[in-house]
Amino acid sequence: SIEQSLRPLQLEDYIGQPKVKENLSIFIQAAKMREEPLDHVLLFGPPGLGKTTLASIIANEMGVQFRSTSGPAIERAGDLAAILSSLEPGDVLFIDEVHRLPRSVEEVLYPAMEDFFIDIVIGSGPSARSVRIDLPPFTLVGATTRSGLLSAPLRDRFGVLSRLEYYDVADLRQIVMRTADIFHMTISEDAAIEIARRSRGTPRIANRLLKRVRDISQVKGETEISFETTRQALKMLQVDDAGLDHIDHKLLTEIIEGFNGGPVGLDTIAATIGEESQTIEEVYEPYLLQLGFIQRTPRGRKVTPKAYEHFGIPMINGEE
Ligand code: ADE
Repeated sequence: SIEQSLRPLQLEDYIGQPKVKENLSIFIQAAKMREEPLDHVLLFGPPGLGKTTLASIIANEMGVQFRSTSGPAIERAGDLAAILSSLEPGDVLFIDEVHRLPRSVEEVLYPAMEDFFIDIVIGSGPSARSVRIDLPPFTLVGATTRSGLLSAPLRDRFGVLSRLEYYDVADLRQIVMRTADIFHMTISEDAAIEIARRSRGTPRIANRLLKRVRDISQVKGETEISFETTRQALKMLQVDDAGLDHIDHKLLTEIIEGFNGGPVGLDTIAATIGEESQTIEEVYEPYLLQLGFIQRTPRGRKVTPKAYEHFGIPMINGEE
């Protein structure tokens, strides 16, 4: 599918994240020289930055199969045992949202990661016995939004910890140009930069905006996506000049108008705007923190003067 072809297959085609790329490139080369599987890798960072893409590149670069699942999809130890025992030597097993593995499953994973075996209990009651199953050596690539969400014993079993950062405008511009190319579109330089600027440092958002901009450009009969059309499309999509969408707006204006700028507890604000606390914490907040629009304080979330300025709302009787 087009979605698939959007994902680069090699590390050298992966744009941005220079530190992560440089480290992985060396670890992959060394593992290949030793003819060993790569050590287990934990990728962490906000959603949409390319953790799944990197995991599949690792498999491709190592020349092994890429197997993919997620923490919530593995409900029982037996589910994990079935996956692990079907791996071939060296395979990459990608577990997205690895922090959401049930504890009982996590415990099966420890010896699997450390010594490539699992103990499974057969039968029940007095006749129950434990059977050891040896596994082929494999590489676990785990993904999570924050490394702190993992239990310490699980985190300790990853040999490589890589944090993905928000992308800068130059990298996002390059990603937008690459995607445009894959779609056989031409896009003007200023239009690509505009999408890059308003994508919240996130390739998934940049590619999504590009697709919608393309729709409008196509309907207008343009041969090249123009800056003008891009601005028009972003306005229709309710993406503001800083890349904030209507949920970011709701979050910030509610704290400003309903709670006098805060501080307000996460659960309170979540209930007020009708979003999950976890979604706010993992999807919306990280970029607002990076922009310096909100602050975390011991008493809750606070909107900063910079955010008031962004909305053109004067600050009145703030607490400090
Ligand atoms: N598509 C999405 N993320 C990408 C990245 N980091 N490099 C290249 N293409 C991408």
